Amino acid sequence: MTKRWSATVAVALVTIGMTSLRQCDVSAVAPQSSGPRAEGVFLVEPYLQLGDPKPHQPTRELTLVWQTADHEADWAVEYQVGSDEHWRSAPKPSYNRIAMPCVTPHRVYHARLDLHETQGMAPYRVKRAGQTVFTAEADAPKGADARYRFVAFGDCGANTADQKAIAYQTFERHPDFVMIPGDIVYGRGLISEYLTNFWPVYNAARADREVGAPLMRTTPFVAALGNHDVAGRDFAKTPDGLAYYLYWDQPRDGARGQGETPWRTPLMGTEAQTKAFVASAGVHYPVMANFSFDYANSHWTVLDSNSYVDWTKGALRDWVIQDIAAAAKATWRFVAFHHPGFNSSKAHFDNQQMRLLADVFEAGKVDIVFAGHVHNYQRSFPMRFIPDRDPGGAVVRKGEQVLGRWSLDRAYDGQTKTRASGPIYLVTGAGGNHLYNPEQQDDPASWQSFTCKFISRSFSFTQVDVDGPSLIARQVDPGGNELDRFTLSK
Ligand SMILES: [Fe+2]
Repeated sequence: MTKRWSATVAVALVTIGMTSLRQCDVSAVAPQSSGPRAEGVFLVEPYLQLGDPKPHQPTRELTLVWQTADHEADWAVEYQVGSDEHWRSAPKPSYNRIAMPCVTPHRVYHARLDLHETQGMAPYRVKRAGQTVFTAEADAPKGADARYRFVAFGDCGANTADQKAIAYQTFERHPDFVMIPGDIVYGRGLISEYLTNFWPVYNAARADREVGAPLMRTTPFVAALGNHDVAGRDFAKTPDGLAYYLYWDQPRDGARGQGETPWRTPLMGTEAQTKAFVASAGVHYPVMANFSFDYANSHWTVLDSNSYVDWTKGALRDWVIQDIAAAAKATWRFVAFHHPGFNSSKAHFDNQQMRLLADVFEAGKVDIVFAGHVHNYQRSFPMRFIPDRDPGGAVVRKGEQVLGRWSLDRAYDGQTKTRASGPIYLVTGAGGNHLYNPEQQDDPASWQSFTCKFISRSFSFTQVDVDGPSLIARQVDPGGNELDRFTLSK
């Protein structure tokens, strides 16, 4: 038993009063109290999620999620809408019971907030046995005509100083939502890693540059699966893996009606372990890997770009085509996933599988594709890609590379010429984990010709302000300094 294991188990035992962890031979733990204000009440304090809104309709609801020990309790959520000071009751909260071998049983509660009538902030309170135990305000989703702001950063949950400073800087800028294009939590997306690398930073009790910020209780977070988020899928090695499917509550439209498909996150471990995981994840596994949602005047398609997915053909590819086509009336179409198809870094250069959807994004008039995986910032010209094909018509691949040619819209300058021909591909993977290829920032000769900005010596996040048919995207460092800016208009 390692020293770290002992310390963590001790915390879990004190907090939850369980002894079953001692039977396990690997380092699995369960949630602990996330702050003194909630001691004994929550394992993780309430945080906001999209939940499962109706596809292709601007979401005006949010789901409040919180985690507790595995005890019966009478939970209720009340909130205020519009200017009405009357407290409205949310439908009775439901819960998933997380009961997996080597993991202390606990519960993940979900309560739906209908915010159709709210512009701005909606105060809410969480009650247990009639007593208010938590209060905060939810940033209600904006209406179709409203201006809004979102922030994107990936590769973030590593418990670093720069991750915390970015959380703080994000909080200061009051986005309407935050998008994480994968590698949410290092190193393997485990329950135990969420406890140290994620909740204390993004759901902190107070805003502090050196700690993080109380972001998630106010601002919904959305995320795509990265490779590190699925790295714990062998429960024989990591019994508390795939926490994404346990703790996130995101739309579940991406796999409806597709039955057994080859793209679901594969599970490993004993039959008892995988069964327990599936039962604990409930409705979220496997369908939460791919989904779409609408926010105000934008449509988002969020994909699992991990290498177990085959994008050359199949039901999931067809779903992406149909999903984006059905969003033709949205002013903006955005896509988010983890592995960038178009990347100039020497790091992860070969991971080009998402080039296989470039034609889909072009045909569907996608405006910006957000990716991470590569820990720096890169912006492409608006561009189109034509893969090389063999005589049989198959796309030519060299290992994980996808060979082909691209055409660039060099007339677009993002300042005076702001109408783009083709999607802009962003890599925004400088959200907290160590930076990749700092030596390339001042070496444009090392960039692929599709790259027009490459910033690899600063941690950073993307802030996008959308105002009807125009938007301004900024890349910002943890100190609030602007590193890049471009405007897009229709
Ligand atoms: Fe990654």
